[in-house]
Amino acid sequence: MAIARTCINHSVGFDLRQLVRAAMTSGRSDSSRGDVVTEFERRFADSLGASECIAFPFARSAFLATLRSMDLPPDSEVILPPLTIRPMVDAVRSAGCRPVVVDIDPETLLFDLAELDRCLSEKTSAVMITYLFGIASDPRPIIEAARSVGARVVEDFSHNLGATIEDRAVGTFGDVGIYSSSATKTLDTYGGGLVITDDEQLTARLRVAQSELRHPPRSRLVTKILRTLLWNITSRRGMWTIATFPLVRLLRRRHPSLEQAISGAGRRSGRSTGPTDSWFERFTPQQAAVGLELIPQVDSITCSRVFNAEQIRATLKYLGVPVPTGSERGHSVFWQCVAYIEDVDRVQTGLASDGIDTAGTNLELLCDCDPGSCGHPVGRAVKRHALYMPCHPGVSSRMLERIAWSLVRLRPQASISLGPHSGGTGRA
Ligand SMILES: Cc1ncc(COP(=O)(O)O)c(C=O)c1O
Repeated sequence: MAIARTCINHSVGFDLRQLVRAAMTSGRSDSSRGDVVTEFERRFADSLGASECIAFPFARSAFLATLRSMDLPPDSEVILPPLTIRPMVDAVRSAGCRPVVVDIDPETLLFDLAELDRCLSEKTSAVMITYLFGIASDPRPIIEAARSVGARVVEDFSHNLGATIEDRAVGTFGDVGIYSSSATKTLDTYGGGLVITDDEQLTARLRVAQSELRHPPRSRLVTKILRTLLWNITSRRGMWTIATFPLVRLLRRRHPSLEQAISGAGRRSGRSTGPTDSWFERFTPQQAAVGLELIPQVDSITCSRVFNAEQIRATLKYLGVPVPTGSERGHSVFWQCVAYIEDVDRVQTGLASDGIDTAGTNLELLCDCDPGSCGHPVGRAVKRHALYMPCHPGVSSRMLERIAWSLVRLRPQASISLGPHSGGTGRA
C-alpha cells in the first residue's frame, strides 16, 4: 500500500452529504441562518482563548479586511515572510500599502530578527508573522520589535492550529490572528478565513467589513466541496495505491513541471491578479455548521500528527538530518513533518520507490514576483530543500516503520544551507 503525503480530515460520505446539502440550498436562503455562523465563531474563539472570531471566506480576504480596519497610512510598509501564498501580497497592495519581504530563520521559520531589525522603520505599519508547517516558535521577540516602531502585528496560523507557546495558543499574541480553514487543514470548512482578536475597535470594524460581504452564488460552495471530494477520493488508501500515486510518479518522471503545477509544489509567483469577487463573499452557515461538527476532532487529529511526526523526527535525528526546531517552550503540531535535505530529489524519488509520497511546500516564494528582490536565501532554501513526509492520522505504526526503514536505506544528506551551522540565529 502506498502512503499519501496528506489527507482530508473527513470522510467521503461526509463530503457527499455536504455536497447534496449545498446543491439544495441557495446562498441567500441559507444565509438567513446567520446564528450558526455566530455560534461557530464563538466556539472557535473560545477554543483558542480569544475574545472574538470574525469569519471571512478566505485568509486572504480576512487579511485585507484586517489591514483596512487598521487604518494604515497610505504607502506605509507591511512586512511579509518570503514564503506564503501570493494573494497575501495582493491584499497588502489592495490596502494601499507596500509589501516588504524579510527573510526567515531556518530553526524557527519566523523572521530572522537581525534582518527584521534592519527593515523595520517608521514607515512600517504592520508585520505579518506566518507560522510554518506546524512548528511552534515564540513570536514575542518579533512582536516586541514591531511594537517598538508602532507597527501592528498579524499572525497567520493556518499551519499551526492548536500550537502553543507556554500554553498560550499561537495566533493570540499579536493584534490579530488569521486561520485559513481550507482543504487539508486540521479544521477544514471548505474554505474560510477566521480572524481572532481581543481588540474591541478592530472587532467592530471587522464586523462592518463582514456585514458588507455579498451572498455567494450556490455554485461557489458546491465547487469547493466537489474539489475536496475529488481530493478525498483520490487520496484514500486503495485509490491512492492503484491509481493516484502511480500517476503522480509517472508525471514526476515525464512531466515534472506539470506534476508540480498540479500538486502546487513548484508554483512560482506570477503577476498579481488582485482580489476577485470570491474574496468578498460570505462564509456561509453551512460552512459554519461543518466547523461546529469538526472542532471536537481537532485535538485527536493533532495528537496523531504529533505522535507520527515525533517518530519520523527521531529517525531524522539519528541520521543527522536537520529539522526546524521551534521554541523549547512551544508545543508544535506538525501540520507537515518537514526535513531539510540537500539531495532532496534523490530522496524523494527513493521514498517514492518505497511507496512513500512526499512533497515540497506549495507556498510561493514571494521574492520571485519582485525581480528587484533577490535576497532571502533561507526562504529560497526552505522552498528548495524542505521535504515533508506523511504524518497525518491515516499513517499507521506499520507505515511509520516503513518510512523509517526507507530513510535509513536512503541516508539523506543534511541540507548545507539549512543545517545547524548555516547561520540561523534561532532567537525568536
Ligand atoms: C500560510 C498560509 N496562509 C494562508 C493560506 C490559505 O489562505 P486562503 O484561505 O486565502 O486560501 C495557506 C494555504 O494553504 C497557507 O499555507
